Amino acid sequence: MTLLLDAKRDSDLQHAISLLRAGELVAVPTETVYGLAADARQPAAVSGIFAAKQRPANHPLIVHLGHIAQLEEWVTQVPDVALALANHFWPGPLTLVLPKATWVDPIVTGGRDTLALRIPAHPALRELLQRGNLAVAAPSANPHKGLSPTSAAQVMACMQGKLAAVLDGGDCTVGIESTIVDLTSAEPRVLRAGPITASTLADFLGSPVHHPQQHNVAVPGNMQVHYRPRTRLKLKTSAEVQLDPGYRVARLLLSEPQDPVSVGFALTRLMPQDKPAYARLLYRALHEADQLGAKEIWVELPPTSEDWADVQDRLGRAASS
Ligand code: TXA
Ligand code: MG
Repeated sequence: MTLLLDAKRDSDLQHAISLLRAGELVAVPTETVYGLAADARQPAAVSGIFAAKQRPANHPLIVHLGHIAQLEEWVTQVPDVALALANHFWPGPLTLVLPKATWVDPIVTGGRDTLALRIPAHPALRELLQRGNLAVAAPSANPHKGLSPTSAAQVMACMQGKLAAVLDGGDCTVGIESTIVDLTSAEPRVLRAGPITASTLADFLGSPVHHPQQHNVAVPGNMQVHYRPRTRLKLKTSAEVQLDPGYRVARLLLSEPQDPVSVGFALTRLMPQDKPAYARLLYRALHEADQLGAKEIWVELPPTSEDWADVQDRLGRAASS
């Protein structure tokens, strides 16, 4: 049985803290996507995450902290660049990769000697972490390779029965996974594009930051086939996306539909032109399209500018077979 807890109720928040302390799995809201959380100091609890998700053991997890001061506990050293980024971008959708402290169990890091960390911005999760003096390891709360959930209902739909509780904190306000930046080499490197772009980081630091396109890091978990709905997803130009397919298709458009009554289209969702608004709705729209039993999902190609790099990345992976 999976409990549905309400993050707005104090007794429910306290219950989530108790479950995590007892080594149980609890799905928690973050500003990006829902996370499948376990107490990061309990290796047995963390191993439950891998079982629930069917996630390969070498895929490292992100540890979510409540305070910047906790950094020193989890990593061997906090370089100035890490502290500067943490002070400026936390709480928020930025994950920092640093050398892990020796006591941190390798189950958390997939056997690597580096650790990914962030302070999430969702107020209920921050309250939980701070009040419980907890640090939680949490991947996105979906089965391995599936679409990340951005609401408690989506977590329930794909993970019910595999975890103790889902803490409902409403719809995620960012809606796409955090930017991951590796700080273990001379120059910071973005390993996963996210809401905070490499240029934003470089501007803030006043020094170069490698982009995802400029290198090819094989990090387990950073796979081409990922973030995928069950229904086959195809990326289409603005002209192609208007052509009646002759079979049931759900489509996500950026340009106005020319023929909204076309029989082939089981769903037509006009997406926002504004990138943050688009990202907030993307996974929800894909989940919705996935549930229709359409033959394909068509997504109109998003702009190629850098601020859309995270959306480009996730859609590219969702479309690869
Ligand atoms: O927004 C997010 O980041 C969400 C929320 C829940 O915080 N979490 C998330 O976790 O997307 P997950 O497990 O679905 O993706 C984590 C990514 C993986 O691609 C993994 O390879 C990478 O982080 N990662 C974790 N630890 C790493 C490390 N030490 N070095 C390099 N990459 C790492
Ligand atoms: Mg994930």
